[in-house]
Amino acid sequence: MDAREKIIIALDFPTEEKAKACVESLGEEAVFYKVGLELFLNSQGKILEYLREKGKKIFLDLKFHDIPNTTAMASVFAAKKDVVMFNVHASGGKKMMQKVIEETKKINEAASAIAVTILTSFSEEEIQSLFQSKLSLKELAIHFASLAKEAGLSGVVCSPWEAADIKKVCGESFQTVCPGVRPKWSATNDQERIMTPKEAVQHGCDYLVIGRPVTKHENPKEAMRMIVKEVEEGLGLC
Ligand code: C5P
Repeated sequence: MDAREKIIIALDFPTEEKAKACVESLGEEAVFYKVGLELFLNSQGKILEYLREKGKKIFLDLKFHDIPNTTAMASVFAAKKDVVMFNVHASGGKKMMQKVIEETKKINEAASAIAVTILTSFSEEEIQSLFQSKLSLKELAIHFASLAKEAGLSGVVCSPWEAADIKKVCGESFQTVCPGVRPKWSATNDQERIMTPKEAVQHGCDYLVIGRPVTKHENPKEAMRMIVKEVEEGLGLC
């Protein structure tokens, strides 16, 4: 197994030029990139063509959330762009997610739809009040993950601390895509409840979403190499 395939670099940049400079500086070291709203909108979507030309895999992180038909049509756009992964909000409901799967599979069998469960910016109190629910944050996240699984989605974005429990409920093959990963040598920034890359893979995270520890490092390539090494250790490859 190639440990680089498990690391998704978050291209959180305000311009196409800055994002391209980062991709160039990482070269062959990084193979998988996440494009979020900021970069997608500022580059008017053009960053996707660039990454495809470079032979990179893409996680299109636009978090679609609307009525079933509108969400499905936005997802069809992602499927047509040959992205490996894109995401929708599980709180859009099972019917919405089923429609996404039905429509995107007609276009591209390989594009994985991933669900956002509960945004990590919510506190337990906020989410309980919003949904008028007595469930804990973790129980709600697992509930949304189960809903996504039932609808036919491939996995969820979740905290590394939830990955093992989600796999217990949704099965080993249900993919866990985890931000909140920090090597010991890097700043935590605004991330809370973090794990190191090694711990994260040991806890069942299939993909690690990592941004600033690499993109803001003075030597991104070296930072990436160190993270790949940690992932290899966690997987028992070295
Ligand atoms: O720079 P950093 O490693 O913190 O980047 C993490 C990436 O994952 C960012 O693009 C952030 O928006 C995203 N993310 C997150 N927490 C979530 C969902 C997405 O940090 N719950």
